[in-house]
Amino acid sequence: MKEVFLAKTFAGFENLLQKELHQLGAKNTAVLNRSVQFEGDFNLLYRVNYASRFASRVLWQMKHFTFATNNDYYREIFDFPAEKYLSRSGTFAVSCTAFESIFKTPLFASLLTKDAICDRFRDKFGERPDVDKENPEVQFHIHIHKNCAILYLDSSGESLHKRGYKVSNHPASINEITAAAMVTLSGWDRNSDFIDPMCGGGTILIEAAMQALNIPAGYYRENYGFYKWLNFDKYLWKQTRNEFAIQDDIPIDLYGYDCIPRFLGMAKANIEKARLEDFILLNKRDMRTVKPMHTPSMIVFNPPYGERLETEDNNLFYKEIGDALKQNFSNCKAFLISSNLDALKHIGLKTCFKQNIFNGALECKYYGYDLFSGKFAPANKTHHGNYKIDRK
Ligand SMILES: C[S@@+](CC[C@H](N)C(=O)[O-])C[C@H]1O[C@@H](n2cnc3c(N)ncnc32)[C@H](O)[C@@H]1O
Repeated sequence: MKEVFLAKTFAGFENLLQKELHQLGAKNTAVLNRSVQFEGDFNLLYRVNYASRFASRVLWQMKHFTFATNNDYYREIFDFPAEKYLSRSGTFAVSCTAFESIFKTPLFASLLTKDAICDRFRDKFGERPDVDKENPEVQFHIHIHKNCAILYLDSSGESLHKRGYKVSNHPASINEITAAAMVTLSGWDRNSDFIDPMCGGGTILIEAAMQALNIPAGYYRENYGFYKWLNFDKYLWKQTRNEFAIQDDIPIDLYGYDCIPRFLGMAKANIEKARLEDFILLNKRDMRTVKPMHTPSMIVFNPPYGERLETEDNNLFYKEIGDALKQNFSNCKAFLISSNLDALKHIGLKTCFKQNIFNGALECKYYGYDLFSGKFAPANKTHHGNYKIDRK
């Protein structure tokens, strides 16, 4: 059966997400603001939740209606058969976005939605589910624009950037969706070494290894919103996960450096949780002294922006980063993300790639640099690992 879904993402990643959705089998995709609408069946809904690297959540469109008064609105929600998805003794929550509507606040629309759902249960069964804002079993979302409303069920639950491998959280950790986009936009081909010279908790390295080995984004995740729906199809879910073949015998080499041992300890814990330690080597090093083991290498990183981690003189520090890239990484490509526009000007290298991207709520620039004089030829090298994911 064909259903309508909405995958949410960050501003700037809509096209990446649309392409990914096509690859996963979505039909009739349409790019909207920070989201992509698409059509498909339940298999696709599960597949997108499991495999999408660029979606933050996936909503299932339940009902589309127009209304003129509070009563009209209440009646439309009351008529929706919520008992197909939510049990009488279950818990639920309602979130709302509303623009130019008759409701003074989105909160009012949420409360009216909640009342209509509860009243329907009370009328039909003499009992009603409870509201649990923190950890609901079923999460409804209502989007209102003027007199049009769309009721959705949130199939993801916690945001999909929570992949399940972060056991240790770096204070300036990059969002996993942003890290995945940085890797994809860099065009890394898996043949050359991949280096994050300021790796912190290791997010970019892990996302790069997952992409290279075809590990689904949700491989380590233990929970999804749809697990608690009454129509959850366990068999289909298992089948969907089995569609993905991890390529764990591919010889890829990733290197992570950081000057602070505590942060390297965090990266180690996260990499071990993802069972990627055969592919990623970590070392304590100042970025300004790092040299690639082989050329060409791909360098992707997020230096401190001067917001959450202080450096003494950001402009000077960024100049030193630029100097180090130029002197130590010739014949390589480097990509870096930063929200510090002033400091970025001090890198002093000609960009070959520029894009505005978001790291969570923070607007950033993502810049790429060609650091080679000749051809970007495939590497001729020996490898550091034995390349098997230990699937405990
Ligand atoms: C913004 S954080 C990186 C966060 C990381 N991408 C993650 O997701 O956890 C920047 C990192 O650069 C490291 N750093 C700062 N100066 C450095 C230097 N000169 N050499 C190596 N690492 C440095 C910091 O210790 C910090 O862990």
